Amino acid sequence: MDFAARRDWPGYFRTMLGKPPRETLVRALEIPDRRPAGERLAVDLACGEGRDTLELLRRGWRVVALDGHPMAIELLTSRVPPDQAPLLTARVEPFEASAWPRCRLLNCSFALPFCEPREFPGLWRRIADSIEPGGLFAGQLFGDRDSWAGLPDRTHHRRGDLDGLFAGFLIEQLIEEERDDVTVEGEPKHWHVFHVVARKR
Ligand SMILES: C[S@@+](CC[C@H](N)C(=O)[O-])C[C@H]1O[C@@H](n2cnc3c(N)ncnc32)[C@H](O)[C@@H]1O
Repeated sequence: MDFAARRDWPGYFRTMLGKPPRETLVRALEIPDRRPAGERLAVDLACGEGRDTLELLRRGWRVVALDGHPMAIELLTSRVPPDQAPLLTARVEPFEASAWPRCRLLNCSFALPFCEPREFPGLWRRIADSIEPGGLFAGQLFGDRDSWAGLPDRTHHRRGDLDGLFAGFLIEQLIEEERDDVTVEGEPKHWHVFHVVARKR
C-alpha cells in the first residue's frame, strides 16, 4: 500500500521533498489581484513538506501553514530562506482542531480526502467562511471512483457534490481527472481527482 494510502506521512514527505508547487496553486497565482503581495494572506492547509508554502513566500505572500504532522512543519520551516521567515506562521494542527484567520487564498493541495468524513462538513464550512470575498480556493477534492474511496476514513465526492460545496464561489478552473496510473511509490491506482480553483463571490 502506498505512503498516502496508509498515511505514512514521513515516507511521503521524503519522496516529495524538493518538488515544484502544485499546478492548482500556480493557476491561482496567475489570476490578477489588485492587492500588493505584502497585503495578501494565504492559508496553506495540510501544507505537507511545504512545496506550495515556499512558492507563496517566494512571491511575497504572508502565509499561515498548518499540517497535522510535526515533520511537515519541521521540513517546511528548515527550508524557508531567512529573509522570508517573518512572512510565515507555521503550526502543527489537525483538521479537526485547526483555526486560521480570514485569507485571500485558501490552498489545500491533495489533502482533503484525508479528513475523516464526520469532520468534513465543519472543515469545509471553516474553509468557505474564511476566504474573503474575491479571494480564492485552490486545491483538490477526490472523486467517488478513486481507488482510495473505499477506505473507511476518507472523504470523497461525486461530481454533483461540487455544485453544493462551491455554491458561494465562481469556478475559475475545474478539471476532472480520471485515469489508471501509479502512486508516488509506483503502485497501480485509479485516480479520480477534481482540481479546483474557485473565487469566492
Ligand atoms: C498527500 S499530502 C499533501 C501535502 C501537500 N499539501 C502537497 O500538496 O504535497 C496530505 C497531507 O495532509 C496532512 N494530513 C493528513 N491528515 C490530516 C489531518 N487530519 N489534519 C491535518 N493534516 C492532515 C498530512 O500530514 C500531509 O501533509
